[in-house]
Amino acid sequence: MPPFFARPGQGQSIPVWPVAKSGLEAWLSAQPDSVAAWARASQFRAQAGRVLKIPAADGELAAIAFGLDDGDEPLLWRALPGDLAPGAYHIEGALDAKAGQLAALGWALGCYRYERYKKQPKAEAWPQLVLPDNVDGDEASRIAAGVFLARDLINTPSNDMGPQELSDAAAALAAQFNASLRILTGEELLAHNYPMIYAVGQASARPPRLLDLRWGHMDAPKVTLVGKGVVFDSGGLDLKPSDGMRLMKKDMGGAANVLGLAHMIMDAGLKLRLRVLIPIAENAVSGNAFRPGDILTSRKGLTVEIGNTDAEGRLILADALAEASTEQPDFLFDLATLTGAARTALGAEIPPFFTPDEGLAAELAAHAAKQADPLWRLPLWKPYAKGLESGIADLNNVTEGGMAGAITAALFLQQFVGEGLVWAHFDIYAWNAKSGPGQQAGGEAMAIRALYALLRDRF
Ligand code: BES
Ligand code: MN
Ligand code: ZN
Repeated sequence: MPPFFARPGQGQSIPVWPVAKSGLEAWLSAQPDSVAAWARASQFRAQAGRVLKIPAADGELAAIAFGLDDGDEPLLWRALPGDLAPGAYHIEGALDAKAGQLAALGWALGCYRYERYKKQPKAEAWPQLVLPDNVDGDEASRIAAGVFLARDLINTPSNDMGPQELSDAAAALAAQFNASLRILTGEELLAHNYPMIYAVGQASARPPRLLDLRWGHMDAPKVTLVGKGVVFDSGGLDLKPSDGMRLMKKDMGGAANVLGLAHMIMDAGLKLRLRVLIPIAENAVSGNAFRPGDILTSRKGLTVEIGNTDAEGRLILADALAEASTEQPDFLFDLATLTGAARTALGAEIPPFFTPDEGLAAELAAHAAKQADPLWRLPLWKPYAKGLESGIADLNNVTEGGMAGAITAALFLQQFVGEGLVWAHFDIYAWNAKSGPGQQAGGEAMAIRALYALLRDRF
């Protein structure tokens, strides 16, 4: 990870003027005539993310003006470092503590690049932000590190991010923070009664797994994270068409995100008992693949008729959620790239979340807004659970017709969550469709900055 920040008082740094549209005229009239003329000639109108490089008389870079538009996009600062030469920069004028913290985080997030497969990585040196006094640089770096971990894991293609490699990443994280990690592999899943994780993964040459990471004091409040770790989702025998399969290396995005969140929690030393459960499987096609019409007996004991082998995520999560529920955690969160329907409902950028707990819902919405990590609640609408009934088993894994697919998927998971637990399910996309200012197309962290803020507030 590049060093994002420089400490104040360590030599020269180039000033960056944040300029909102409402402050543009005032800023222009406070500048020397030559700067105002340059800004006008360059058509700088404080557009969001617009970077104006202001030269000195000798042609060296003297200052930057950074457009904020109406100033309501706190992570906009991620658009800046990618546009700057290596060197030190400082923000001109005071930001309040909250805006400063998000500006520093945005700066760090904007320094991400995924270059594992490039022969010629870009320059080693990075622009650095001189931290304003009221900003906690360690905290911004910690959050960025968690986000980068999630992005790296998602971006790594499935041929190099199978069950083994995903376990290795969890083992490295566990070693870094002295956490314990228990791994069940292949047939061990049957011996320990995780039949649905096994069934989804049984067709792959790379056997399925369950990771169980624990950290912290055993008598502290219990927080359990569950992440969908489908290392590739072909759809199984209900094979996906090419377009639908193309991005399915990212189907372990829930696992990647809970590992990123675990990094933040452990690095910050929050006073909680963390457990991370990651069911891992490759949803593959072969002669021994599970089939449409098969009936599986879940860890919880409920039988599940397979209406569609492409609804595999909810099967492996169901066994993990049943296990998570047995020790009655104080908070239970699951993150999963679970449905295309969640995208149809809210698009790529806003993950829906589901919880029966009104207090938790309000808290999540508040932290999502504050951290600029958008989330939107969708309902666990009980009447739709009827659609998951099966004629010959306790449940079907899909509904007919597929309307409200994100909701029915969440209702399916709820069947396996212990009564009365404080639980939330996040149906994330874990992907940026396009590159843009401060954003590389590819894997993305979603929901974990909001969740970290919530846990940090509590513990
Ligand atoms: N991993 C997919 C969901 C997905 C697809 C997430 C595209 C993000 C982008 C999941 O396993 C899946 O295939 N879901 C099906 C469920 C359906 C068969 C009920 C879907 O959403 O089409
Ligand atoms: Mn699927
Ligand atoms: Zn999937």
